[in-house]
Amino acid sequence: MIDKPIIAANWKMNLTKSDSGKLINNLNNFYDGGVELIIVPSFTLLDFAKSILSNDIALGAQNCYYKNEGSYTGEISPTQLIDIGCKYVIIGHSERRHIFGETNDLLKKKLLSAKNAGLIPIYCIGETIKEKRAGKTQEVLLKQIDILSKDIMPLVVAYEPIWAIGTGRIADIETIEQANSFIRDRLSDMEMTDVPIIYGGSVKPESTYKIASSNLIDGALVGGASLNAGQFIKIIDIFKEVKIC
Ligand code: PGA
Repeated sequence: MIDKPIIAANWKMNLTKSDSGKLINNLNNFYDGGVELIIVPSFTLLDFAKSILSNDIALGAQNCYYKNEGSYTGEISPTQLIDIGCKYVIIGHSERRHIFGETNDLLKKKLLSAKNAGLIPIYCIGETIKEKRAGKTQEVLLKQIDILSKDIMPLVVAYEPIWAIGTGRIADIETIEQANSFIRDRLSDMEMTDVPIIYGGSVKPESTYKIASSNLIDGALVGGASLNAGQFIKIIDIFKEVKIC
């Protein structure tokens, strides 16, 4: 199992080859192995990133299909991701759920197929602002967790309240801790222990100290701030300082 804080950089649909090269060089120079660092670029940058990333920084993809090959124009398979050197794949990011209509049923197939190919899924769950205001957070999380099973482990779960993603409005620590303990309890009812639960949604250096200090939060999935070497390195440094002592 992963026994270090997990920090994943979700680059989303950003960066050219030359910009990503500069960012990776900065990370290579700084990285000392203190955290499980995962770089998650666009598909077009995976091969290039793998060729220049230091060996102990892991590569992840932002999505995959559940079939391993065939006539699925525009899709990428889990075995293709393994072939190119990925260790992780994000499954169920809220942008996939809400912009591209991915359902829990589809995500269940993706999770199994990713796991069977040898990838570690980073499975994203979280509620919308409307669901939060209606007091439905746990109900939504439950439906999203219920598609998991022991045979998908090893697995990382990312709690990402949708209203906190890309908004600059980070969830307060009580909200994150409440959600993470709910997720942990439900997973343990399903005999899934040792699943790291990380947080994502507007993580910035200024907000990292609180997140890193919580025993209920095992790392961060960082979007916007991971595109800036200075900010991202600060986030990693704070996790190292707080969690590894
Ligand atoms: P953000 O994105 O840090 O820009 O809010 C996080 C994510 O979508 O994973």
